[in-house]
Amino acid sequence: MSKKAIGFMDSGVGGLTVAKLAMKELQSENIAYLGDEARLPYGEKTKEEIQQYSLQIANFLIKKEDIKMLVIACNTATSYALDYLKKHLLIPVIGVVKPGSIAAVNSTKINRIGLIATNGTVKSGAYEKEINKINNNVKVFSQGCPRFVPMVENQEYKDMGKQEIVNDDLLTINSRNIDTLILGCTHFPIMREMIQKSVGDSVQLIDPGYETVKQIKTVLQQQHLENNEKRDTTYSFYTTGDADKFNQVANEWLNYEAHAKHIPIKELEEL
Ligand code: DGL
Repeated sequence: MSKKAIGFMDSGVGGLTVAKLAMKELQSENIAYLGDEARLPYGEKTKEEIQQYSLQIANFLIKKEDIKMLVIACNTATSYALDYLKKHLLIPVIGVVKPGSIAAVNSTKINRIGLIATNGTVKSGAYEKEINKINNNVKVFSQGCPRFVPMVENQEYKDMGKQEIVNDDLLTINSRNIDTLILGCTHFPIMREMIQKSVGDSVQLIDPGYETVKQIKTVLQQQHLENNEKRDTTYSFYTTGDADKFNQVANEWLNYEAHAKHIPIKELEEL
């Protein structure tokens, strides 16, 4: 039993899609979240940069919030820094790529899965590796969609005028005859409606967040880290970017009044 918070990290508001599911499924758990907007997009950074940023954020959440486990709620950081963080931290660390791969393999009936993600995640090949570990007859068709993350961060995800950009960027994936599409960037579930409209109802969209929350639950149980006391749940939010901008997306997406604190990058760099 532990009342300590579960830490969540992402390059921005994307990880809130995972945090939201955790808030619903793990109602007695405290949550501490950091969005690294000042250094977004992670999808265009090097492996070394992503590892360094991720470790700084983990150390910040450990120092400030004494987190009991870390969820890398970012596909790009999972692809490049999961093993690195596991090596450097004493608390359990889980990412979103393995859970997303399990959910996608369970969904496909024709062994043809699409992946949309950042260029970094696509380049890493992390999803192909995980999927083929489970079933090596599955074909994965990947597409980088770097224009989607700024659309979410800038709150343009309801602007139907942007549908054309989404259709354009999904043109190739739409020609692949897939039945399952992984939303391989945690920002993408926020614009799920536009993506579904573009790929059509016959394609099953996979949000890795659902399976990730199941795995968080399992780890908490196995390591006896669950919080059994239901009262006074606290949610803390930090951003290296603009707190008002972060709060606008967070409040709408989570249906919760977040009061994010701004953390200067300098503070993270010292860790
Ligand atoms: N939300 C992040 C992910 O899941 C990436 C966004 C970025 O490029 O910073 O990959």
